[in-house]
Order: sequence, then structure tokens, then C-alpha cells
Amino acid sequence: MDDEKRKFVWGAATAAYQVEGAAFEGGKGLTIWDVFAHEKGRIYMDQNGDTACDSYHHVDEDVALMAELGITGYRFSIDWARVLPEGTGRVNEEGLAWYSHLVDALLEKGIEPFVTLYHWELPYALQMKGGWLNPGIADAFAGYAALIAERFSGRVKHYFTINEPQCVSVLGYVTGEHAPGLRMGRREFFQIHKNILLAHGLAVRALREHSRGPVKVGFAPCGAFYYPSSERPEDIEAARRATFHTDSTELKEAGWNVALFTDPIYFGRYPEETLRLFGDALPGISRDEWEIITEKLDFHGQNLYNGVEVRAGKDGRPERVRRYDGFPRTANGWPVTPEAMRWAIRFLSERYRLPIYITENGMSAHDEVSLDGRVHDPNRIDFMDRYLGELNKAVRDGADVAGYFVWSLMDNFEWTLGYSERFGIIYVDFPTGRRIPKDSFYHYQRIIRGGETQ
Ligand code: NOJ
Repeated sequence: MDDEKRKFVWGAATAAYQVEGAAFEGGKGLTIWDVFAHEKGRIYMDQNGDTACDSYHHVDEDVALMAELGITGYRFSIDWARVLPEGTGRVNEEGLAWYSHLVDALLEKGIEPFVTLYHWELPYALQMKGGWLNPGIADAFAGYAALIAERFSGRVKHYFTINEPQCVSVLGYVTGEHAPGLRMGRREFFQIHKNILLAHGLAVRALREHSRGPVKVGFAPCGAFYYPSSERPEDIEAARRATFHTDSTELKEAGWNVALFTDPIYFGRYPEETLRLFGDALPGISRDEWEIITEKLDFHGQNLYNGVEVRAGKDGRPERVRRYDGFPRTANGWPVTPEAMRWAIRFLSERYRLPIYITENGMSAHDEVSLDGRVHDPNRIDFMDRYLGELNKAVRDGADVAGYFVWSLMDNFEWTLGYSERFGIIYVDFPTGRRIPKDSFYHYQRIIRGGETQ
């Protein structure tokens, strides 16, 4: 990416609503999650992120833990409503000061801040104007990006615009599982899809224009990944095909196809299947708008947890391989498929030709504090080793992987699952806010000290 030798970033990730707490403090405005989580029946046991890990008040302790861990990058999100309570206009200096303190504390410890501008913390005031369905959101988001770039110029050099646009659009506006909890149709979905793409592109421009000095920018999608059942070229091709193409007309499925957001951003066009299967629902995108959407990125961020095994079936078409009975799963039921790491990286770098940051990877377990006062999480250690081993294979295959961020630095508010799923390498005792590094924390520390992937 640079002429100077870039060092692999060993990182950990969190997001504002999931860890900060202080939901109604420090002049912060309401976000859609503040409201949604308080609606009955939305979240496991009607829990909410009002306090979460209370990182707002534990910021120095958390940074000290990161330093002990030895990470060289921390990926966190800024709560849009903490800095712009209504989404536009009035700036909340107290909120900016809090993030400024966090950034300074990180830099002092030699930890590079990787800022996500949007990890689902949409100011409620903007939702009242239609949220992501309102085309005006793109300018609002760009204004917010400009403010952040101005204030953090010279200190923050890496940005992700939007985290998992698939969840924002499909879970937020189609299935209604996530805030704002709406159920809309195809036309609205593709309007939202367009607004997200434009917001992303305008924010990329704003970050570059308003930062004094260079910044590197990308985004952090998720997506449904597929890996081949063997190294036979036809199986590899089947997995590649399934990753970037789908014939599904169900947004619940088609919405997760990797190409749906990445092809427009990198290639300036809709995937061919989107045009074919959803043509009647697509809003027009002008030439100028495509230019905004395709603003060049410095790296590709990828959240990656698992994938589906496929082989070449009849006519070479991808055919899913049935998972054997008792297939390994994490506590929240996600399959453990380390191979997805290698193949996702391979397919993404072949297609988009950018350095890749794995912006999230990790697993939930029902961890508890043992009688010896420690938190033993052997499954997470094994998970980490397996996935990092596959990441290393991707590097050996020739991919340019710039860094890895474990999800998550600490147990936190897992959206609709509340506090029932623990993804952290630091255990959080929610009633007291006490932090206990898990065994996996020390394992990751050793990996980082070794400085090598497996
Ligand atoms: C993706 C999301 O970005 C993050 O917020 C979430 O907690 C993890 N995956 C685990 O579900």
C-alpha cells in the first residue's frame, strides 16, 4: 500500500453502542438503538445498551488493557449522535472531547486508532426524517465525516465509513430485526442501498478533503462467503461463483451476497444478477453519482465469521455440502469454518485487488469465571489459531493482508441477543463493570509478541 514497509496490524474491535454505555450522558443525542432497545420484545430479556461495558467511564482502564495485550490497532466506532446530537448542525463538544481523549490515550501507547464512522448509531433525529431511506442522509453523513476529519486530523489516519451495510439495510429495513425495526419492500431496499453507497462515497471524499495530511479509507462489509470442498479447480470456481453471484430474489438471501455492495463501490455498476432480478426495483444512478460511489479506497475491510462449503455440482454450479451431524458451532450457533478465512481473502483480493484488513473475527462462548477466578476459554483459543492459520495460508497464496482485528476486545451488548453472547477476549462482569482478561487474551498476547501468523 505504501512504499515504506507496512507493518501487519494486530488489533481488536468494538463499537460505540455495544461498549460505551452513558447513553443519556455527556450531551449525547438519542440514536435509533437507544430507542429500539427500549421497545418491548425487541432484545433478549428486554436488555439494552444504556450502560453496556460502561467504557465511557472506564476508558483509561480499557486502553491500559489494550496496551497490556500488545495490540497495535484499535478499531472503534464514533457514535454519530454523541458528537452531533441531531445528526447535523449543533456540535456536542463534550462528546468530541471524549473521543479525543480516547485517541490521545491510544496514541500515547502506540496503538493506532482505526475509526468506524457508522457502526449503526444513527441519530434518532435523522430517523425521524426517514433515516437511510431519505436521500438527504448522504449529505448529513458527509458533514459528520468532515467534522471528524477536521477534529482528528493528524491523529486518526485510518477510517472505515460504514460497518456491515448489509445489516444496516436488510436487518434494519427489511426483516426489522435491528433498529429501526422496519419492514420494507424491494424498491425501498434499493433506495436505501443507493443512499448507503452515496453516503459512503461522499464520506470518503469528505475525510480526504478535511484531513490535513493523508488518511487511508475503506469500509467494513460482512457478506455470505463460500469455500471449496477440495482444491479441484472446479470446486474452487464453484465457491468463487457462489461468493459473488446469486440467483435468489429473496432480499433475506440476496442481500448478503458479497458483490451487492462491493461491486458497485469497486466497479461502478450493479452486479449483473441484481440488474436481471431486481431491475424493476432499482433507482436510477447517474454518472456523477457513480463517480461518488467509486471514490477510490485504500484498503478493503472485511468482517468474517464463517462460510458455507460448496463443490461443483451439475454444470459446475455450486452445490452446498451438507454439514455433518455434530458440526462444530459457537455458542450462538454459528458454524466454525476456518477455511472461510483463507478463501474469502483469496477471492476478495483476486477480484478487488486491495490490501485487506480482517476488521472482525471471533466467536461467542458462554464464558464464566471459574473458581480460580480466571476465565478459561479454550474453544476461543482454538478458534483463533485455526482462523489465523487459514489467514496465513491466504498470505502464502499471495494475498496482501494488512491486519487482523479480533471481535471483540471485550464482552459487550450483542444487539438483539443482548448480553447473552460473549464475544470478548476480556470478560466483563456487567453488574460491576469489572474486566477480567480471559485465557484467550493471554494467548493473543503471545501471538502478537511472536509477531507472526501461525
Ligand atoms: C458484526 C457486527 O459488526 C458486530 O457489531 C457484532 O457484534 C459482531 N458481528 C458479532 O455478531
